[in-house]
Amino acid sequence: MDRTGAIRRPTKTLGAAFLFAAIIILGLLLKDHLDLAEITARLVAAKDWIRLHPALAALLFAVVYVAVTGLSLPGATVLTLIGGSLFGLWAGALLVSFASVIGATIGMIVARYFLRDTIERRFPDVVAKVDRGIAADGARYLFALRLIPVIPFFLVNLAMGLTRMPVRTFAWVSQLGMLPGTIVYVNAGKQLASVQTAGDILSPRIILAFAALAALPFVAKVGSNWWSRRNALRNWRQPDRFDYNLIVVGAGSAGLVTAYIAATARARVALIEQGEMGGDCLNTGCVPSKALIRSAKLSKEGAHPERLGLKGHLEPDYPAIMRRIERVIARVAPHDSAERYRDLGVDVVKGHARIADPWTVEVDGRRMTARRLVIATGAEPAIPPIPGLADVEPLTSETLWGLRERPDRLLIVGGGAIGCELAQSFARLGCQTTIVEALPRLLAGEDEDVSEAIRGLLLADDVTIITGASVGSFVQDGQSRKAHLTNGQEIGFNRVVVAVGRRPRTRGFGLEELGLLEEDRLIVDDRLRTRLPTIYAAGDVIGRLQFTHAAGHYAWFAAMNALFGDLKTWKAHTKAFPAVIYTDPEIARVGLSEVEAREKGVAYEVTRYDLAELDRAIADEANAGFIKVLTTPGKDRILGATIVGARAGDMLGEFTLAMRHGLGLNAILRTIHPYPGWMEAAKATAGEWRRAHAPAWALNVSARILQWLRG
Ligand code: NAI
Repeated sequence: MDRTGAIRRPTKTLGAAFLFAAIIILGLLLKDHLDLAEITARLVAAKDWIRLHPALAALLFAVVYVAVTGLSLPGATVLTLIGGSLFGLWAGALLVSFASVIGATIGMIVARYFLRDTIERRFPDVVAKVDRGIAADGARYLFALRLIPVIPFFLVNLAMGLTRMPVRTFAWVSQLGMLPGTIVYVNAGKQLASVQTAGDILSPRIILAFAALAALPFVAKVGSNWWSRRNALRNWRQPDRFDYNLIVVGAGSAGLVTAYIAATARARVALIEQGEMGGDCLNTGCVPSKALIRSAKLSKEGAHPERLGLKGHLEPDYPAIMRRIERVIARVAPHDSAERYRDLGVDVVKGHARIADPWTVEVDGRRMTARRLVIATGAEPAIPPIPGLADVEPLTSETLWGLRERPDRLLIVGGGAIGCELAQSFARLGCQTTIVEALPRLLAGEDEDVSEAIRGLLLADDVTIITGASVGSFVQDGQSRKAHLTNGQEIGFNRVVVAVGRRPRTRGFGLEELGLLEEDRLIVDDRLRTRLPTIYAAGDVIGRLQFTHAAGHYAWFAAMNALFGDLKTWKAHTKAFPAVIYTDPEIARVGLSEVEAREKGVAYEVTRYDLAELDRAIADEANAGFIKVLTTPGKDRILGATIVGARAGDMLGEFTLAMRHGLGLNAILRTIHPYPGWMEAAKATAGEWRRAHAPAWALNVSARILQWLRG
């Protein structure tokens, strides 16, 4: 046999026949004797004999154990219990531990000898893949399997026999991994031996022994986690003690919520921020943009007061609007302030963090250690490599808030959520606005009817829309600035805003040195754990759903998994995830769009309700838009809801709640909604669905009965 466990094969058929015969004979011999009841009955006699011949008894027991396990016969568990009752805890555990490893190794070698070639010939790709996995992490897998006693012992031996795991590794990992289970089972066997009467079954020692058995899977999980952690961290030296339970890098939405949850759980937590507390959402994202949208909306209404029976005119005052936005940020800022978080017990540290090793963060020269780190460094606007862009002082959603004068001619590159929100607002404040989108339609992630709706809205606000083209180059010529588009058009502008997506902030603070990045992306698993088991991540930096509410949602999972992941982990789900684009009217969606359902091959039917019919929307002069609900054909199961409408974001809540908790449209229909409210639209949509699904036969029967009652 060589080091990889490959075996020289003599006449395999003869060997197989011999093995088969041995299994049958031993099976028959033991058939009636491997029965716990019978053995227990003979226990007293057996124990007397053992007392007289201890060495011989141990040898005999070991031989039987090795034979049973080596031939992969069932009965190892019963034999282990018997070992405990005959030899007591420590001698029994010692015997079983070695006998089981010898038996398991024989079983594994036998499986490799007889089965591996055949399996490899039949499934070469699968075998090669498994071998690669085993070479990389086989010992850990085996250790985990051994720790979980519900996975049959002989199956693990057979399965490992089919791999190329070295025999020596198999033996020592098995010995170590099976030890806790062996001790618990042997102990249970020892306690069982003391059962004399039915009442003894409930003795505390026996209950304890079985409780230890029940606890094994949990212990197994903890052990397996410990093993994988040890492996992944073997290149670093872990500090003997830590300053914190958790260090959070970045005090945006994800970092703040992570720190908040950790502090609430009474963890010692540090929160490091190099810029303003609150991150993008508070300082350059959600908060300022919504303040801008509010002013822009009133400006639009003020431009046509006659629609509401009013006279006069409202003039936008751009610098005043920008000052108001600053006031709004200042009003919200205390929620995210360092003072508030210090009051919660968080150590807020100002400065630039660098991750030095899996437990250490350096902040401007100061070293801090924690058992776990959470990266919440967010994202930044992506800047496309367009020739001449740097010469025309491009603005982004981060920098445009510093603009103190209204740009007369504004070019927006990118027709996604940010592009559309900004284009509408600036147009309403009197800027001549052009939006250039590379794809054939705006908001290309939404359905065609949504893109159509937003197109109509922006056109109504005098936005010039160019789709299916991008900017080939920018030219600054004296005071004049021009964009040459890929479709040959030339656009003159004063300022340009680039809104072509956001790029996670992953570089420049140690993640690349730790090998956590793949093409600049920070890789996390479904527990938000990076490739290093001490480092977690949440929020925009993981590049999934780039929304504040997603960041807050992920933060809970990152905090809990980071703090308590050794005992229990939580899978970061995004079931029934809602998102809103705050144009006017708003665009809101939860669950599947039609495009997504088609891409995923999910069958659906559509129920539509036009907000032109909603009484409250008519009264508010805001009855543009619709609600569209996707359901499973023939079932009351909501797959997704899209709303275009003045209060779409708020209305979406009812559908989100329904989807999250498995409620259908019938449940919405049976819920009382106040009149005349916007939420009535949800009920009306459910009514549309119900009407389309009313059973015709029931209506016919009803008509007949009522006709009969009329006489
Ligand atoms: P986005 O990914 O939503 O849209 C970017 C658009 O730019 C795409 O349609 C893309 O085709 C287009 N584009 C890319 N390169 C281009 C080029 N060279 N020329 C012309 N067009 C080009 O990204 P956006 O709007 O920057 O938003 C970033 C993130 O922030 C998104 O994940 C978005 O969902 C989120 N967000 C959400 C908001 C909300 O929910 N209210 C508001 C603002 C942003």
